[in-house]
Amino acid sequence: MTNRKATLTVDGESPIELPILKGTRGQDVIDISSLGSQGYFTYDPGFSATAACQSDITYIDGAKGVLLHRGYPIEQLAEKSDYLETCYLLLEGQLPNAQQKTEFETTIKYHTMVNRSIEQFISGFRHDAHPMAMMCGVVGAMSSFYHDSLDITNQQHRTISAHRLIAKIPTIAAMCHKHFNGQPYMYPDNSLSYSENFLHMMFGTPCERYKIKPAVAKAVDRLFILHADHEQNASTSTVRLAGSSGANPFSCIAAGIAALWGPAHGGANEAVLVMLNEIGHEDNIAEYIAKAKDKNDPFRLMGFGHRVYKNYDPRATVMRESCNEVLEVLGLENDPLFRLAKKLEKIALEDEYFVSRKLYPNVDFYSGIILKALGIPVEMFTVIFAVGRTVGWISQWNEMITNPYRIGRPRQLYTGADTRDYVPVDKRQ
Ligand code: CMC
Repeated sequence: MTNRKATLTVDGESPIELPILKGTRGQDVIDISSLGSQGYFTYDPGFSATAACQSDITYIDGAKGVLLHRGYPIEQLAEKSDYLETCYLLLEGQLPNAQQKTEFETTIKYHTMVNRSIEQFISGFRHDAHPMAMMCGVVGAMSSFYHDSLDITNQQHRTISAHRLIAKIPTIAAMCHKHFNGQPYMYPDNSLSYSENFLHMMFGTPCERYKIKPAVAKAVDRLFILHADHEQNASTSTVRLAGSSGANPFSCIAAGIAALWGPAHGGANEAVLVMLNEIGHEDNIAEYIAKAKDKNDPFRLMGFGHRVYKNYDPRATVMRESCNEVLEVLGLENDPLFRLAKKLEKIALEDEYFVSRKLYPNVDFYSGIILKALGIPVEMFTVIFAVGRTVGWISQWNEMITNPYRIGRPRQLYTGADTRDYVPVDKRQ
């Protein structure tokens, strides 16, 4: 809170004073929460100018390309930390000491297996069900398996649910992949690191162990770090909104997964690959760039642009490095699809339309390429985003539940029919 106030005058009536709130960093925020009782709503479709909550977790400065988790720059976490340590940071507010780190890793490993009935649940899906459809269903169904951690007012229950979600989501994701592929499910191997274990469950089979390349495991771990949290984006806001009604954490995360699926959000990494395949050849890039610029054509260049980052996406800078490393380690630099992606990136970075609108490649552009290079099917791309983002969702949910909150209930500007009398069916035209 500051002593500064904003004043709103409507049609010359007495001014309404609105407090101005100050955060640790970032824009000052005009507190309009008293306006409702004074007869006004504000109008902000897409919430471009609305802070819906206070949060201590993540800070983004879109103009400067800054992303901090609990104060730590994403570049430092991506270079020096690992995913589970970042999870601890997001959940607990500080980096763990050596003992806390070991204990947390052990706890997560202890929870990696899922109830046998979850296997049967997944087996019930059609063989070609989209893995995101399965994820929404199975994560929502977790609330029917873990009754012992559903009391949202109990701190121990909230903690166990958070640990279960972080530990079991990779297992469920890999099982969805196996179901989609028609292969047997692989059980977790708790001697492996989080990302190694994920690769083992994704690509191993009961007859052959998957040989994990350290560079590949590192790239996956980094990918999880870069997706761990991103402030009040569409899926996180969905988790908070669902949670504000008192719903249990598993159902809230399932709601977040549903919101993530769309191509304007987490579905963009899948959409990038679909688009690259559609472009097909470097010679066709100009045609697709023209389509992206054409206001009468709904086509957009997937993996370009961001609602918040209008300078560059700091996650994309790190992911770009990882992307180049992975392509080199796997000897794929000259693969036609990846050469096409590189050429598209170059052209878009130089084109006036994209430069003037600050449409830079975002994190999904490079993550899509990395995942494709790792041999992960495109249908799984958004699932992998969801695996990394689970800790952000549950941290934000937990923050909301442990602070005073009200059910989220936006209002509207009604533009429909005015009051009219019911007309019997035989009198209607
Ligand atoms: N290709 C072509 N033109 C674009 C694109 C694009 N990818 N993105 C924005 N524009 C144009 C848009 O047509 C508009 O032009 P004009 O000013 O002439 O009308 C201008 O740029 C501003 O666009 P906007 O729609 O107001 O921007 P927004 O903030 O509402 O949308 C976005 C952000 C990410 C939804 C959008 O850039 C987009 O659809 N990008 C492609 C999908 C994508 O890669 N999404 C992943 C986002 S990063 C992952 C995450 O955090 O979820």
